[in-house]
Amino acid sequence: MASIALREVGKSYGHHPVLHDVNVDIRDGEFVILVGPSGCGKSTLLRMIAGLEEVTDGDIRIGERVVNDLAPKERDIAMVFQNYALYPHMTVAENMAFSLRLAGAGKAQKDEAVRRAAAILDLDKLLHRYPRELSGGQRQRVAMGRAIVRDPAVFLFDEPLSNLDAKLRVQMRTEIKALHQRLKTTMVYVTHDQIEAMTMADRIVVMNGGRVEQVGAPLDLYDRPANLFVAGFIGSPAMNLFEGEVSSGDGAPAFRMADGTRLPLPEGAAGLQPGRRVTYGIRPEHMELTEGAADAGAEVAVVEPTGSETQVFCRLGGADAVGVFRDRVAARPGDRIQLRFRRERILLFDTATGERIES
Ligand SMILES: Nc1ncnc2c1ncn2[C@@H]1O[C@H](COP(=O)(O)OP(=O)(O)OP(=O)(O)O)[C@@H](O)[C@H]1O
Ligand SMILES: [Mg+2]
Repeated sequence: MASIALREVGKSYGHHPVLHDVNVDIRDGEFVILVGPSGCGKSTLLRMIAGLEEVTDGDIRIGERVVNDLAPKERDIAMVFQNYALYPHMTVAENMAFSLRLAGAGKAQKDEAVRRAAAILDLDKLLHRYPRELSGGQRQRVAMGRAIVRDPAVFLFDEPLSNLDAKLRVQMRTEIKALHQRLKTTMVYVTHDQIEAMTMADRIVVMNGGRVEQVGAPLDLYDRPANLFVAGFIGSPAMNLFEGEVSSGDGAPAFRMADGTRLPLPEGAAGLQPGRRVTYGIRPEHMELTEGAADAGAEVAVVEPTGSETQVFCRLGGADAVGVFRDRVAARPGDRIQLRFRRERILLFDTATGERIES
């Protein structure tokens, strides 16, 4: 077991910088997920923790040790990749024991480690099968098994589920989370899928363009995104974001969109300077259909029922918007609907800096 500390970590390939000033503290036993769009530097950072990439700037600590100059095998880590090719000519048991065999472990030690990993992963009855005789999910579990037998201080995962079909991915998500709850070993997991990150992580590190945008518990990021990038990246469908400005007009201050549409400001935003350029954020499920007093009208473009809820894509004040409603919605394209916003859920961002405005 070990904590991990990333201190002002930077990485360049030649003169091309890909990571800038990364500072993250991962607690012993924590499950941390690095998430962000393709090319933002997630795999590079994970591979630097693993010792597969050199550290250009800063320090990486695992436990008490600075590991910058330690070889991968000296770091007490095990890594599972997206392409976790199993050895086709070896059984499940032999695949799992392979790294121990390389390390010179005796038969009794190998058997015991494989038995323990197989019990954890529910592979007991498959130990004598070959990879071609397994389903995709079972193969994935064998790949995890190879990591578990080594009993490392830290597990590193790089998109281990992306080769699986959608249903299996959802199932493996639950299995990995349960695995972490049993092992309680520090895990760092990379994905570009924000739902995977939200459902599994103790804490999420949101990355963008080689920088850390925000670190926090899943629901903290969801409820209090630090900036427009995190607001738009976490959540599906994405948060509605409208550009406009604070307007004093006549009466109470409000938010005004380019076409003159006025939306209510959240409580605590009364002190904002009139004329200030702000971006207005409201999540799709925080808009409610109403027949009474409405905050905004919208014109329906597309209605998508999923069975448990209905997603309504619409035009609101000249912008695209989407609402998610628990109930079935009778509206059809072209209809006008009336919306009320949950006041305590409205977020405001400074349009120039992208930072959320605390209110
Ligand atoms: N060996 C390399 N030489 C030069 N540039 C590289 C090298 N490896 C990665 N890069 C660049 O570093 C950046 C980060 O790549 P990285 O693989 O870490 O992204 P990622 O966040 O894992 O993306 P994805 O979600 O697509 O896997 C990219 O711009 C990539 O082109
Ligand atoms: Mg990657």
